[in-house]
Amino acid sequence: MFTYQPPADLLKDRIILVTGAGDGIGRAAAHAYAAHGATVILLGRTLEKLEKVYDELEAAGAAQPAIVPLNLETAAEHDYIELSNQLHDTFGHLDGLLHNAGVLGVRTPLENYDPVIWDQVMKVNVNAPFLMTQTLLPLLQKSEDASIIFTSSGVGRKGRAHWGAYSVSKFATEGMSQILADELENLTSVRVNCINPGATRTSMRAYAYPAEDPQTNPTPEEIMPLYLYLMGPQSKDVNGQSMDAQGNGSA
Ligand SMILES: NC(=O)c1ccc[n+]([C@@H]2O[C@H](COP(=O)([O-])OP(=O)(O)OC[C@H]3O[C@@H](n4cnc5c(N)ncnc54)[C@H](OP(=O)(O)O)[C@@H]3O)[C@@H](O)[C@H]2O)c1
Repeated sequence: MFTYQPPADLLKDRIILVTGAGDGIGRAAAHAYAAHGATVILLGRTLEKLEKVYDELEAAGAAQPAIVPLNLETAAEHDYIELSNQLHDTFGHLDGLLHNAGVLGVRTPLENYDPVIWDQVMKVNVNAPFLMTQTLLPLLQKSEDASIIFTSSGVGRKGRAHWGAYSVSKFATEGMSQILADELENLTSVRVNCINPGATRTSMRAYAYPAEDPQTNPTPEEIMPLYLYLMGPQSKDVNGQSMDAQGNGSA
């Protein structure tokens, strides 16, 4: 596991948007960021889940969060422009963007892959992060020290049979992260990195590996050190990296 001891006020006064914040790793990240002082914008498709996280953060005494219900499969450019306008009016800038929402699609050979599901996976995992990043970049550039984190996977670095659109979408994610990091290097205070969470105890993992004992994998809460490190000021000079939340690294 990546090891890092963040100070309690690591993210004090920072405005951080987390996609897929209602469940799994995104929910844990929202909690971790809020617990370290951030105001978290909870974006996801299921309002009830977002409201539950909102209530949990309020009960924990965190800064008042915001909720953005948005289905990333159907969202269009105007939705992102509206989001950007709302964030601009409410906060004036953005310090962090965690692209975490994702869908698995089906596990089947490419030969049989349903093109409709292919399209759904690409929309949520690739097109949405592209459009959201493009639209929110001006707000991120207003921050003195902003961080964009993309979410990859082991199958985004080495293709594996039957992982289809999911694997291709994660290769695309690694590429998008590298391109953006290179484009922004030395030009702005925005850094861009990618996290491979590794096998983690969530609904997606259970769906992908129904026969596996979930207890063999760490919880989303356990993999948070890298998510905190890359979001906080101590990673200011880290750009264009793809890191493993369960790797041997430390900071
Ligand atoms: N868990 C692992 O072992 C593992 C390993 C490698 C990479 N990852 C990556 O880590 C990220 C988080 O995965 P997870 O395991 O936490 O999955 P999860 O428990 O299934 O959570 C996925 C989140 O994404 C949201 N989401 C899905 N489709 C959406 C859409 N159309 N619009 C808006 N939000 C949407 C979900 O919202 P709803 O709850 O409302 O559906 C949910 O909050 C993903 O990018 C995944 O590919 C996970």
